[in-house]
Amino acid sequence: MTVINIHVIQIQKLRRITDAIYASIWIDAPFWVGILIVIGLIFSLVSLKGLPQSIGGLFFGLFMLSMGLWMFLYSTVIKIKHRHVILRLAQVDRNDKVLDVGTGRGLLAIAAAQMGCKVTAIDRWSQWDISGNSREAFRKNAEIEQVADIELIDGDACELPFAAESFDAVVSNFVIHNIKSPEDREQAVREMWRVLRPNGRLVISDIQRISEYIEILAPLASQIETKRIFYTFPFSQIVVAHKK
Ligand SMILES: C[S@@+](CC[C@H](N)C(=O)[O-])C[C@H]1O[C@@H](n2cnc3c(N)ncnc32)[C@H](O)[C@@H]1O
Repeated sequence: MTVINIHVIQIQKLRRITDAIYASIWIDAPFWVGILIVIGLIFSLVSLKGLPQSIGGLFFGLFMLSMGLWMFLYSTVIKIKHRHVILRLAQVDRNDKVLDVGTGRGLLAIAAAQMGCKVTAIDRWSQWDISGNSREAFRKNAEIEQVADIELIDGDACELPFAAESFDAVVSNFVIHNIKSPEDREQAVREMWRVLRPNGRLVISDIQRISEYIEILAPLASQIETKRIFYTFPFSQIVVAHKK
């Protein structure tokens, strides 16, 4: 292989990475990111003027600011790593049928499609959970990341419009905790389980309520494991349940 060929391949690789980062620029929980950054900035700036008496205020401001920036960084860069961790745990393979529940702008669905899976994605497009959330935003990201054939469904995780045992893997990132009532969260987890085929893998990544999901899945699964994640904001956990 010539040196020029190697350079072309490296540039193409770099282009894919920058495209993925560009496509991933959307903010999860934009309200909280904004609040943390604004409060952090105000406290830091006001406290700077009153030093040394206001050192406590300065620490508080810097703490809030760093939390906001970490949340922002997760939304824009870290989630690119996170999606591959989730898909690896789901053991997805080329031609597997994969369902992404609460896809938002397509973080998991698009990566699964790039791996050669047959992907279906479903969402109810809440504006509160993620900025600029819509079918159009999903399609635009899919176009940037060069995947065309994802089936995109408007719908509710609590009532999945699919036959039982339709998917090899069902994945979901930072979705189920957004469902308010425990009964509806349980219904959503049971629905994800229902549409999973025997020997399939359900992978739920979330920032809260993991013990609820484990309680529901433990009696049903042939194998269940959890993984703590410390690079997301907030910290999160992943449950991997294998169906008998
Ligand atoms: C924080 S976003 C995460 C989006 C995507 N999974 C990701 O990791 O970037 C939560 C998503 O879950 C969706 N969602 C929340 N409750 C849902 C429900 N009951 N049914 C379907 N989608 C839901 C929201 O519309 C939003 O797109």
